[in-house]
Amino acid sequence: MIKRPIIIDTDPGVDDTIAIMLANADPSLDIKAITPVTGNVQYALTSRNALFLREYLDMDCKVGDGAHTPLFIENKDAGDIHGTGGMGGYRVPTPKKGFDGYAWDIIKEEAEKAGGELEIVTLGPLTNIAITFLRYPEIKPLIKRIVCMAGTGGTGNMNRYAEFNVWIDPEAADIVFKSGVPVTMCGLDGNDFCGITIDELNGYLEKVKGSKIEDLFSHIFKHFVKRRIAGGPEDCIQVINDAITMAYFIDGNLGKTRKCFVQVETKGTVCAGQTIVDFNGISKQEPNVDVLVWSDKKMFTDMLDKMIEFYKK
Ligand code: RIB
Ligand code: CA
Repeated sequence: MIKRPIIIDTDPGVDDTIAIMLANADPSLDIKAITPVTGNVQYALTSRNALFLREYLDMDCKVGDGAHTPLFIENKDAGDIHGTGGMGGYRVPTPKKGFDGYAWDIIKEEAEKAGGELEIVTLGPLTNIAITFLRYPEIKPLIKRIVCMAGTGGTGNMNRYAEFNVWIDPEAADIVFKSGVPVTMCGLDGNDFCGITIDELNGYLEKVKGSKIEDLFSHIFKHFVKRRIAGGPEDCIQVINDAITMAYFIDGNLGKTRKCFVQVETKGTVCAGQTIVDFNGISKQEPNVDVLVWSDKKMFTDMLDKMIEFYKK
């Protein structure tokens, strides 16, 4: 099997962690690098968590030193959602190995080595990718596709309109969406179909027993359960956005997409960070993004089950 060369750009992050576990378990992927970015928690923690995950999952890949802050706006984060340290309160040991270079340099190097086959999955703000394109515009034609957990064609999670990864750094998202590189946007609305109930979350605590990821995976899923219960009856479904995005990236049969013209609002006082999706072509603008409009929950949970079996070998 010819493996797909990929880079995972991420702000781990509890759902990022499940996504990276999924990717690491899939035989079709050749993970060349993980490139951390500031986002869910401050960069000192997202980068530490990325270095830790490489060792915890015994991954043979580089880790690139990424952006410590968004391009323009001040650093915010979603620490409460991701718990102390960004891993649901899991006690992350100090990684033994450090960075292999800057994220943008590694992305450039791997894009040149892959000769046009490199795909990038982004699970956090798009700051690293924007910096790469600003620093090395010549490599854009070498990026086969970018699949982003980003944005929403519906309501946001940071305000009525904006999804966190775009809200944190809208200018970076704007640069990437305008780059001309094929972009697939797995937004909150497209991912929502794969939401998991509290009973299903608890079911995974049983399924993961005896696997090499049991402690971290179950710590994160218990964190999900705690947050869903605290959220009350209207908040009882867990949408593991980054893992759904990674599952779709691994197997495109998991979802349906529609080519749309998407703009990012970078200046709005009410809706900065909104991804404005022209689902009906009203703008008459050339579509620039494949937008995920539906995803298959059964396929997603089957992929989680298969991943857990991988870690039991
Ligand atoms: O809005 C959800 C996204 O923001 C996910 O990637 C989550 O990890 C946070 O980064
Ligand atoms: Ca993330």
